[in-house]
Amino acid sequence: MSACHAAAAVQTGGVNVLVTAGPTREPIDPVRFLTNRSSGKMGYAVAEAFAKAGHTVLLVSGPTSLDVPDYVDFVPVTTAAEMHEVVGHHLKRMDIAVFVAAVADYTPAKVAPQKIKKEGDSLMLELVKTKDILGSARGEFGFAGTLVGFAAETENLEANARRKLTGKGCDLVVANDVSEEGRGFDSHGNEVTLCFPDRTLELPHAPKSELAKDLVETILDLHLTKISTSSNH
Ligand code: CTP
Repeated sequence: MSACHAAAAVQTGGVNVLVTAGPTREPIDPVRFLTNRSSGKMGYAVAEAFAKAGHTVLLVSGPTSLDVPDYVDFVPVTTAAEMHEVVGHHLKRMDIAVFVAAVADYTPAKVAPQKIKKEGDSLMLELVKTKDILGSARGEFGFAGTLVGFAAETENLEANARRKLTGKGCDLVVANDVSEEGRGFDSHGNEVTLCFPDRTLELPHAPKSELAKDLVETILDLHLTKISTSSNH
């Protein structure tokens, strides 16, 4: 696509967007798993806002109780390893990728084939690191489009978000302080700090659906700047 056509697609719809959302579940045995408090609401709201703006959206989500938004393609996954595989399969053809999922950083080293019985007074569970899906985007998956990560932090919000911005090759990291009531995990609203390579922007507290609309506008602007800059080189 020429730079001119690409710019028209950003304004009128027609951009391919991948969004990851929800938690992952890492099995321990046939009846237990490790997970986190992510509800998926923020990621689903972002996917819906892109679709309402006329873009083609693939939502890759861990288990949630939410309905899939209209006009959004959906691939359900359970574990971090599955999410890594599905994202790797689709990412190359995307223009924009937004990684909202709260992916487990560690998974049990082995899954017990039968329910673990209550025997000793303590139980050691060995965990191994999962693959960093966002961190694989630029290298392993060869993604050259606009890359947006999220950072849920309980301390040093901006410093931690900036480490993720540079470390994972993002164009933007959306940071939120999950230690505050009414923000982030499982709440309806959110208050985020946008960390770009050259500036920081605080957005006021808003329902996740409204915030998602603002975020989508910001991400599309960022994408437009990126494609016009690269076509000038
Ligand atoms: N992420 C990912 N795959 C992982 C872990 C994280 O794709 N295995 C993505 C998340 O979707 C998010 C970003 O990376 O967009 C930051 O996730 P976060 O859990 O805040 O950061 P980590 O890199 O895991 O670092 P830490 O847990 O030490 O804060």
